[in-house]
Amino acid sequence: MINIPKGTYDILPKDSYKWHKLKENISNIARKYNLKEIVTPMFEHTELFVRGAGNSSDVVNKEMYTFIDKGERSLTLKPESTASVARSFIENGLFNESMPIKFYYISPCFRYEKPQKGRYRQHTQFGLEIYGSNHVLSEVETFLIAKDFFNSLGIDITIVINNLGCEDCRTKYKEKLKDYVESHLPDMCPDCHRRYETNPLRMLDCKSNECKAILKDAPRINDCLCDECNDYFNKIVKYLDALNIKYKIDNSLVRGFDYYTNIVFEFYDGDSTRSQSALGGGGRYNHLVEELGGKPTPVIGFGLGLERILLYLEDLGKTFEDDENVDCYVASITDNVEYVLNLVKDLRKNDISCDYDIVGRGLKAQFKYADKIKAKYVITVGDNEIESNTLIVKNMLNGTQEQVNANDIVNYLKG
Ligand code: HAM
Repeated sequence: MINIPKGTYDILPKDSYKWHKLKENISNIARKYNLKEIVTPMFEHTELFVRGAGNSSDVVNKEMYTFIDKGERSLTLKPESTASVARSFIENGLFNESMPIKFYYISPCFRYEKPQKGRYRQHTQFGLEIYGSNHVLSEVETFLIAKDFFNSLGIDITIVINNLGCEDCRTKYKEKLKDYVESHLPDMCPDCHRRYETNPLRMLDCKSNECKAILKDAPRINDCLCDECNDYFNKIVKYLDALNIKYKIDNSLVRGFDYYTNIVFEFYDGDSTRSQSALGGGGRYNHLVEELGGKPTPVIGFGLGLERILLYLEDLGKTFEDDENVDCYVASITDNVEYVLNLVKDLRKNDISCDYDIVGRGLKAQFKYADKIKAKYVITVGDNEIESNTLIVKNMLNGTQEQVNANDIVNYLKG
C-alpha cells in the first residue's frame, strides 16, 4: 500500500463541510471589506522566494520544496503567497489600477518542516495583502479584518505586535545588536553565525536555548526607533485601544521573513500569547515590490493558518453545524425508472438536493442507506404511487409520514 506523504493529510468527506464553512466565512469577510481574490500558481521560479522572502529566512534556506523541471528550470512549490502576489502585481501591471487594492487568497503552502500537531508540509493560508497605502488606517483595516474573521468563528484574538522601524532605525539597531552579540558569537549556533552576517535581526527568533539565553539581554529595537516610527506605532496602538482590539507589544517579535519593515504582528487566541503556535501572522513590507522589479509600493498583509484554526476550534470544543446533508432520497419499488429519473431531475431543477438508488437495492436497504447519508426526507415511489399521482414522503428527522400529491412535491419539500 502506498501511504500519504509525511506531513500531509486528507480532508475526508465527513470533514469537508468544516472547510466549506471556513471558506464561506472568508467570502463573507471579503464581501464586507471589499477584498478582491487573487489566485497565483502552486509553483514559481525559485528565485522569487530567494529574492522575496529572503535568503536569511529558515523557510527559504531549509524548508523549500525545490525541483528542476524538464526544461532545467529551478522551480519551488510556494512556501507562502506574499512574494507570488507581489510578482503578479508587477507582472500584470496592477499598479496602474486605483490604489489601494485589498487582495485576498486561500492558498496551499508547502514547507519541508518537522511535522507535528498544527505543523504540516502542506498547509493552507487565508491571506490578505493591502497594496498602495502607507497610512496607519491600512494597519487598522488589516486588524479589523482579522478580528472580524476570528470573531465569526468564535475566537477571541490577541494581536502580538512589534515595531521593526524604518530602514534607518534597523541599520542603527543591527549595529547595536551585532556589537552586543560579537563577544558571544563563539557560543552561538551555526545558523546565528550566518544570521549575524546576513540579517542579525533574525537571531532574535533563534530556537536554540543557548542563543535564546544570550539574546535575552540583547538591546531591543525600540531603543533605536526614530520619532516618525514611534509616532506611527503610537497611532496604531491608539486606534487599537479605541476599537477595543486586544494586543500585546512584544519587542522580541521579528517574524520569519526578510521582507518585513515597520510593523510585524502575530495572532494568538485569548490570553495565551506565544506559548503556543500562532494562528496567523503578518506585517508591513514596503520594499518587496521594488526588490522584485516594481515601482516602490507600500503593502501590509497577513496569512492565517486554516488548519491551525480548525484544530484550535476543535480543542475549544466548537463545532460547525454540518448542514450539507441531502434534502431528500427517492426510494423506488417500480420498474418505471423513467418516472423516478424525471422526479429526481425535477427536484434538482428546483434546487432540492436529491439522491436515489443507483445500485439496485431493495426498499429496506434503500431506507437504510438514506438514513446513513442523513437524508432529511425519503420519497417512496411504487407503481401504486405513480398511478394515484401521490407520493409517500417520510420525514427522517421526526419519523412522520405523509401522502403528498406529486404535483405539490416541490412546494411540500421547500415548505
Ligand atoms: P507565516 O507566519 O510563515 O507567514 O505563516 C502564516 C501562518 O500560517 C502561521 O501563523 C500559521 O498559522 C500558518 N502556518 C505556517 N506554517 C505552517 C505549517 N507548516 N503548518 C501549518 N500551518 C502553518 C507567512 O507565510 C506570510 N506570507 C504572511 C504574510 C502575508 N505576511 C504579509 N503578508
